[in-house]
Amino acid sequence: MSDDHVRIFDTTLRDGEQSPGATLDAHDKLEIAHQLARLGVDVIEAGFPAASPGDLAAVQRIAAEVGTDNGPIIAGLARAITKDIDACWEAVRVAKKPRIHTFIATSDIHLKHKLRMTREEVVRRAREMVAYARQYAQDVEFSAEDASRSEPAFLYEVFAAVIEAGATTINVPDTVGYSAPAEYEELIAGVIANVPGIDRCIVSTHCHDDLGLATSNTLAGIRAGARQVEVTINGLGERAGNAPLEEVVMALRTRPALFPVRTGIDTSQLTRSSHLVAVRTGISVPPNKAVVGSNAFAHESGIHQDGVLKHQQTYEIMKPEDVGLTQSKLVLGKHSGRHAFRNRLSELGYEHLNDEQVNRAFDRFKKLADKKKVVTEADLEAVLADEFYQPPQVFVLESVHVSCGLPALPTASVSITGPDGGYQTQASTGTGPIHAIFTAIDQIVPFQVQLDEYIVHAVTGGMNALGEVTVRVRTTDPTPRLFSGHGADTDILVASAKAYLAALNKVAMSAGYAPAQRGPGSDADSGEGPEENGV
Ligand code: KIV
Ligand code: ZN
Repeated sequence: MSDDHVRIFDTTLRDGEQSPGATLDAHDKLEIAHQLARLGVDVIEAGFPAASPGDLAAVQRIAAEVGTDNGPIIAGLARAITKDIDACWEAVRVAKKPRIHTFIATSDIHLKHKLRMTREEVVRRAREMVAYARQYAQDVEFSAEDASRSEPAFLYEVFAAVIEAGATTINVPDTVGYSAPAEYEELIAGVIANVPGIDRCIVSTHCHDDLGLATSNTLAGIRAGARQVEVTINGLGERAGNAPLEEVVMALRTRPALFPVRTGIDTSQLTRSSHLVAVRTGISVPPNKAVVGSNAFAHESGIHQDGVLKHQQTYEIMKPEDVGLTQSKLVLGKHSGRHAFRNRLSELGYEHLNDEQVNRAFDRFKKLADKKKVVTEADLEAVLADEFYQPPQVFVLESVHVSCGLPALPTASVSITGPDGGYQTQASTGTGPIHAIFTAIDQIVPFQVQLDEYIVHAVTGGMNALGEVTVRVRTTDPTPRLFSGHGADTDILVASAKAYLAALNKVAMSAGYAPAQRGPGSDADSGEGPEENGV
């Protein structure tokens, strides 16, 4: 317990995926898991394998591809029942470092109304299921759901029983976000002081943000001796979410005297991780969000700007570059070579791209540099997201033409190649250009969806800025499902068409369609958007 390493347990792909409106398919989850590994998290909770065969397969794939020798521990969640633990082990066993995370509630209110079990039954079940999980895995975490509203003496009894049965990590969740920092600190300190065998385990925090106290509670837990924190990127999670990874990690880094501990996080990957998760889940980050919001390092008042120009630390406690945020201009121009471009991508953390991907990114960069003259790193990040964070294309956008204005009847014509290779063009009018474009797309793509959310934002300042569009659509079948899409372009109407079609492509993939087969050098393969085709 005396060690100073705080393990970062990321649960974006499990608790985060339980966020209302979050939409992640297997491909999204794998991309996010790879990014979490680059970020340097110690544990990825990849999902809840017993929830569905699709969840099990997604966790299994992450375990195989991300849970490598030097990769993180891959955990799966399981209720304290054998069927869940079997499914969990099936999913994580291929990882080099697999973990089974099992839980049962310990508060009287949960025992009485949800589980309908006595305290004795809960202790027995917890002990038996941890022992059952230990038959499979060396590494077993036990969580006492609603720990913060449980009677401390009973909590100690449950923890003592599961430690005896072989639990290696003990998690103390504030499931309903009810605790306050002093109280949570006392709770963790009480567990460490009173549970027999606790010195053989890592004690973990898991704080929800219903009262906006998740980060404070997590930090309080660390001060009391917790050495694992369960967190999510952008604070995603059930209801108001979980403690945001970026806030906890930057608080530890910025205030070492208060928190004399370390993490293995490469903080320069925080902005990219946040962006990827926002794009993939379709849940955007508020501008004033700590650490990763677009205003987190923006100084508006003259007094502040003057201060920062004279000395950065007058108003900045963290450097934007510490979290991987930089607005600096690329020193590459349109005459720069591929080699210099590849080096720049590596400096930005994209060293994992293969030759074919670098070539695609390079073509997009050149075309953007032609249009925009000054390409910032933020622009490049947006283009790379548009290029590489897209779902497989079943329907491929070939062209978009729009006519609108004052006065005018907004009219759009859209051409799309379908999965059978058939090329279709449809035109439509609308109340505005976006309505016209989306209606034209709806006439080609055979899915009924309702548009729930449409967000556009400029990647940088300036009138020639690149626009990023995120949409969220809801299927209208008897069990509606949410899908998000993302697109970036200097033309926001084109970005909108890309985003909407990306969401529909996810619907198509979920309906069993195969990605379009297109030959090398085609637009779909090169990733070139319609603007590069001159439409
Ligand atoms: O909030 C919670 O209690 C949980 C547990 C399953 C760890 O998410
Ligand atoms: Zn939770």
